[in-house]
Amino acid sequence: MGLKLELLLFVILFVSSCELRICSGDGKLRFGKNGEFKILQVADMHFADGKKTPCQDVLPEQMKACSDLNTTAFIRRMIRAEKPDFIVFTGDNIYGSDATNPAASMNAAFAPAISSKIPWAAVLGNHDQESTLLNREGVMKYITGMNHTVSKLNPTRFHTIDGYGNYNLEVHGSEGSRFVNKSVLNLYFLDSGDYSTVPDIPGYGWIKPSQQYWFQQTSAKLQKAYKAKPVPQKNPAPGLAYFHIPLPEYANFDSSNFTGVRQEGISSASINSGFFTTLVEAGDVKAVFTGHDHLNDFCGELTGIHLCYAGGFGYHAYGLAGWSRRTRVVVASLEKTPKGGWGAVKSIKTWKRLDDRHLTTIDSQVIWKKGSSGKISFPFCSRRKCNWGCLKVWVR
Ligand SMILES: *[C@@H]1O[C@H](CO)[C@@H](O)[C@H](O)[C@H]1NC(C)=O
Ligand SMILES: *[C@@H]1O[C@H](CO)[C@@H](O)[C@H](O)[C@H]1NC(C)=O
Ligand SMILES: *[C@@H]1O[C@H](CO)[C@@H](O)[C@H](O)[C@H]1NC(C)=O
Ligand SMILES: *[C@@H]1O[C@H](CO)[C@@H](O)[C@H](O)[C@H]1NC(C)=O
Repeated sequence: MGLKLELLLFVILFVSSCELRICSGDGKLRFGKNGEFKILQVADMHFADGKKTPCQDVLPEQMKACSDLNTTAFIRRMIRAEKPDFIVFTGDNIYGSDATNPAASMNAAFAPAISSKIPWAAVLGNHDQESTLLNREGVMKYITGMNHTVSKLNPTRFHTIDGYGNYNLEVHGSEGSRFVNKSVLNLYFLDSGDYSTVPDIPGYGWIKPSQQYWFQQTSAKLQKAYKAKPVPQKNPAPGLAYFHIPLPEYANFDSSNFTGVRQEGISSASINSGFFTTLVEAGDVKAVFTGHDHLNDFCGELTGIHLCYAGGFGYHAYGLAGWSRRTRVVVASLEKTPKGGWGAVKSIKTWKRLDDRHLTTIDSQVIWKKGSSGKISFPFCSRRKCNWGCLKVWVR
């Protein structure tokens, strides 16, 4: 009887996980037969009541025919055009204070992702809980129950962690390759909070020590597995981190060293909780993707980590009339092995698409190449103290 029950449970779990076509057979996110894994990032939809909710900051002549439904249409077009393997919503998915029923708003906001059957994930912004009906926990719980999502509420092994929606996802190597059972790309999702609750600190929330500790533990565990058999690797698998509020380090750039535009200030927390340093120390995360500042869409590199915005997506969100709503795409590509199969991740590229007639592609850039960053070794100065002059020679 015990065995039968187990068998039954196995069948149910297997069938239900494969209904989410995650999934090329075994319920895992993995690279496709083309050796690529493509992620569509949707930032700041600000969805409310659909057709009844007007647009903000569009041209006067566009105002009349414009609503949340334009946000829906944009996602649908993007899914059709890019055919992503995964969709991530980086917060302010709904605009709580204008949502009559936050659950209905989420149903409508995520509907294009759900009906596409593409696995999707979401994190919270600072506006998602601003209805009177669902708090942050309620919103995240609701999301984790939706169809085709791979979002999680929080790590189960950690008893106390700040926020809701801290989790990681492994993207496994291509079917039939030696990396089929290894996570070759790691995705981290964090709740960057809403507003400070510390009286002496004004402004937005931040990533707390409990969350950073979880990230460190998770990154260390993943790195250990990647360096172990089979096909033990020297360097960690690249990681990408997604959350809502930009880190204070986003302010370290100007147009001379980023790709994209900065048309408003960096609305990070007013204090620095050190998550950037934690990321640099861990060594695996190669890029951070946020939203929150709708008029900034740049991507720049600081000490081996790209800090990127997606730019505002939603029509019921502030924007700039005449400046297209936009979205960011990331593609990781595998290297070919000598025998012609797929290996580990070779490079990671990103670009943006505009919601204009042709979904114009802009600002393509390579953000990581295998062997190009992370724990850098200095071949030309290995036997003496290394200085920056030395590094410059090496880089040239
Ligand atoms: C919003 O959608 C309507 C209906 O498809 C369309 O006519 C209008 O041009 C769109 N507005 C914008 C700003 O894209
Ligand atoms: C999820 O999908 C199933 C099967 O397509 C459907 O019966 C169910 O109503 C959906 N659940 C939600 C919450 O939409
Ligand atoms: C991957 O794991 C499956 C199931 O455990 C196993 O049958 C298979 O041999 C493994 N493949 C490789 C290449 O390690
Ligand atoms: C970008 O360039 C400015 C000077 O134009 C400099 O102050 C800043 O440190 C640079 N940032 C990075 C991350 O290199």
